[in-house]
Amino acid sequence: MCGIVGIIGVEPVANRLVEALRRLEYRGYDSAGIATLSAVGLDRRRAEGKLNNLASRLENDPLDGLIGIGHTRWATHGGATESNAHPHSTDKVAVVHNGIIENFKDLLEDLERDGYLPASQTDTESIALWVTRELDRGASPREAVAATLPRLRGTFGLAFLFAGDEKLLIAARQGSPLAIGHGQEEMYLGSDAFALAPFTKQITYLEEGDWAVITPQKVEILDFDGRPVERIRQVSSASAALADKGNHRHFMAKEIAEQPETVSHTLAHYIDLSNETVSLRESLPFDFAELSRLTITACGTAYYAGLVAKYWFERYARLAVDVDVASEFRYREPPLAENGLTLVISQSGETADTLAALRYSAREGQHIAALVNVQESTIARESHVVFPTLCGPEIGVASTKAFTAQLTALASLVIAAGEARGVLSASRAHELVRALIELPSAISEALRHEKSIEGLARQLARASDVLYLGRGQMFPLALEGALKLKEISYIHAEGYAAGELKHGPIALVNEEMPVVVVAPSDELMEKTLSNMHEVAARGGKIILITDAEGVAEAGDGISDIIEMPRVHPFVAPILASIPVQLLAYHTAVFMGTDVDQPRNLAKSVTVE
Ligand code: F6R
Repeated sequence: MCGIVGIIGVEPVANRLVEALRRLEYRGYDSAGIATLSAVGLDRRRAEGKLNNLASRLENDPLDGLIGIGHTRWATHGGATESNAHPHSTDKVAVVHNGIIENFKDLLEDLERDGYLPASQTDTESIALWVTRELDRGASPREAVAATLPRLRGTFGLAFLFAGDEKLLIAARQGSPLAIGHGQEEMYLGSDAFALAPFTKQITYLEEGDWAVITPQKVEILDFDGRPVERIRQVSSASAALADKGNHRHFMAKEIAEQPETVSHTLAHYIDLSNETVSLRESLPFDFAELSRLTITACGTAYYAGLVAKYWFERYARLAVDVDVASEFRYREPPLAENGLTLVISQSGETADTLAALRYSAREGQHIAALVNVQESTIARESHVVFPTLCGPEIGVASTKAFTAQLTALASLVIAAGEARGVLSASRAHELVRALIELPSAISEALRHEKSIEGLARQLARASDVLYLGRGQMFPLALEGALKLKEISYIHAEGYAAGELKHGPIALVNEEMPVVVVAPSDELMEKTLSNMHEVAARGGKIILITDAEGVAEAGDGISDIIEMPRVHPFVAPILASIPVQLLAYHTAVFMGTDVDQPRNLAKSVTVE
């Protein structure tokens, strides 16, 4: 995650850009920079390290200008150096970027053939150069951006500043948030409304695929295809607190929508995006190659993340895994293998049962690793090594973005373990890393199906019981789907391994009972689909979550299909999280429940 700001107006902008960046420092702080346009032309100042370094540089070497953009960086491609700090610029354009451009190498290769050479190791460089080539070929700034955006694969929040046009900023959003602030003869741009709170409370949020042409008086918002779209202007409450719902009705909706970015951010911690290899920053107090056994323990949704990881570690690293809910594990007194690793998973890092399970394992002489979101938590403090999930604070009680961040981190650890244990060749590991790198944009695409999922949620809201089915690594997704639905909509739901259907639950199936089948195309899909047809033959109402190949395979007779983009089967459970979350969310909204604070629940369960 990085932070972006922009100001276009009537007063000097440099100090105000820095002030806005201070409010975004929580998003990244390994380097920062601003660019402005003044009588001397396009100019920038950048500095490695915290924002104070940039502020001191500006004191000694100020920047004039009534228009500018700024960035605080959390390094992904290329180290945390001044030359990799944003803005990236040419003589014609400066750009700041939050996100990951998956195809930057292809773009740079193309540009290099025309003599456009990168000045940094970042993926963002490809955007600055592509726009410059368009400008050199005679395009206007607006045309240059319009021609560039469709070439970018991946996630981005972007702001552009053009030499020679002090009345124009262009912004674009795909998978990384952007808010536009409306002032008096001034306009502002920020990664969130919190950054803009000192300047204005009048905010318009860009939606996925939007881009905006901003002048001091006016904002024109266009969709991906360049058609003008209306986005409401609203009064933000962001000045009061860091937590703000943006233009979402609930925190849960906001947190679901944030996942292209939170998955990217987590990924960037574990993966060296320049070499497309897993590169763990943590020094490991154990050797994956030598481990005798892995024990994973957690509660609720975090436990289901562990369950997915069991399939992965066994298959891709040939590492034997036990997974257990912490509340059972802690009292069972399980014998633990010598030189074994216990991995606890927790968003809050404070869950009492998970902490007790950790302490039991530590007493038994296990290596202790924690996968946590809250870095200062007790679980983090008591572990030998801490793997972070970098999804920011999760406010909605039902866990969403923490789950996908946990899966993303776990997938990275699986690749590291598979390589260390000699199970994954370098090329196979690269294939899996690529699948992860392509995931954030697939999540963005999946989120675009929200409207049709909302339609299906209307059906679920009428049911009193819902069955979720999945097989293999999709079985935990069936469990997670059922948990999400029951905790926020209060509708009874069960998750089952599809193969278990015949052993009891099929007796429940009748016309009243929706059955959600999670079956993206993989080597088990055919079997799951045959279970699905058994349900359909008994009058059960199927909602099938699959991809285009699955739709073709499912044949006629399944009317309710949620079609997801096709991804590598390795990452399919992460992508499938999106429709199950959206289905639960919209069902709860139809039911009129308190989505963010469902009855009887708490965000952090610090008691038994
Ligand atoms: C479900 C949910 C809970 C938590 C569980 C563990 O949506 O949020 O099931 O996953 O209470 O909490 P953490 O991850 O904080 O240990």
